[in-house]
Amino acid sequence: MTINNQIFDFRMPGNVKIGANSFNTIHSDIEQFQPKNILLISDKGLQEAGVVEKIVHDLSRHNIPIQTFTDISGEPYFETLNLAIQFIKDNQSDLVIGIGGGSALDVAKAAACLANKEEDNITEILLGHSTPLSKGISCILLPTTSGTGSEVTMNAIFGDTSNGVKRGIVSPFYLPDVAIIDPILTLSCPAKVSAASGVDAFTHAIESYIAKKATPLTKLYAREAMVKFPANITKAVFNGSDLKAREEMCWVSFLAGVSLANAGVGAVHALAYPLGGKYHVPHGVANALLLPYVFKVIGKTCMEEMVHIANYLQLGDYTDNPHEALGKVVEYLFNLLKELGLPKTLKELNVNENDLEPMANEASKVIRLLENTPYELNKKEIHQIYINSFFGNE
Ligand SMILES: NC(=O)c1ccc[n+]([C@@H]2O[C@H](COP(=O)([O-])OP(=O)(O)OC[C@H]3O[C@@H](n4cnc5c(N)ncnc54)[C@H](O)[C@@H]3O)[C@@H](O)[C@H]2O)c1
Repeated sequence: MTINNQIFDFRMPGNVKIGANSFNTIHSDIEQFQPKNILLISDKGLQEAGVVEKIVHDLSRHNIPIQTFTDISGEPYFETLNLAIQFIKDNQSDLVIGIGGGSALDVAKAAACLANKEEDNITEILLGHSTPLSKGISCILLPTTSGTGSEVTMNAIFGDTSNGVKRGIVSPFYLPDVAIIDPILTLSCPAKVSAASGVDAFTHAIESYIAKKATPLTKLYAREAMVKFPANITKAVFNGSDLKAREEMCWVSFLAGVSLANAGVGAVHALAYPLGGKYHVPHGVANALLLPYVFKVIGKTCMEEMVHIANYLQLGDYTDNPHEALGKVVEYLFNLLKELGLPKTLKELNVNENDLEPMANEASKVIRLLENTPYELNKKEIHQIYINSFFGNE
């Protein structure tokens, strides 16, 4: 597709399966890949919840050796990724199955892609100096949160211990061969994680909808995610066994993820990175908190889209009064934090007030995301947004 002499690329995994019990289709995928050594990548939380053991048991019918890598607790670092790559090499795995939230999936997809690359090449890629030029070993991803959309994006995000920030690595070769999105796998997702990852998915939809790189195609996905979100997020969080709501949130996460993958996100994510890197605030919690404060500022520069968004969120038709549309959307976002029990201020997260300015310095360096936002925030404006979100100035 070409608009204004720009060429827009659109990607997602070749095979995406969504729906209750879609997990069972993994058996035909395994038969198709004919692996000799399977590696299941997941995290400690899912191991403790018994999910890993259950899946290993289920896959044992194929009589193929299965190793597990679950050395992931909390959001991963580049060191975690290196360990997973080494594990694949040591075990000569030829199929990675990643199961978990964005943390486990990011490790799984990046490790699967990089495991067949030379050491020097991997180092350059992880430093962000180059990107992979080829596919890795086969990879199937199964999300258990709704969600980061990691199973359909080209990004993988890791903490960098050298400078205390989070950083994404991006390549179409990180896309898995197959994404299986089964709401049954999300039923056990704890309420707090469901709330944070649910609003994370919404953040992907709203940010990619207004993104400079948005296209008519990505907007279709983002719009549908926003339409489905309000009726299902509270049910999925407070009545986790509501399969219908969980399934709808799987759609929200998938649709928003495809839009994010192709249109990118913006300032909310840029300002969230230092919170994740320095204070280890979970990605979804940081995005959810910053969302209303950031939109209050940048929303003024994309009023037409704010009218659309108010409409998608079923807040009313403000075609003749775009200012009111922005007010209604921001009010909705603040209420959402309250309703879901998510933190509303940086104070609650024990962020030190003296760190707000250095954090603004760090966030202002995330040019890739800031310049994809309709209005490019400067360092002073970012600092002011951190101050507002520190004190809860609505
Ligand atoms: N690659 C991308 O496009 C992308 C996009 C957004 C976020 N991310 C990354 O994703 C990570 C956050 O992922 P997340 O929000 O999905 O959380 P997560 O993967 O960190 O999981 C949070 C906790 O919930 C537990 N959990 C997850 N699903 C469960 C289930 N069904 N049952 C029981 N426990 C469950 C996990 O064990 C973990 O303890 C961050 O590192 C973020 O940077 C990646």
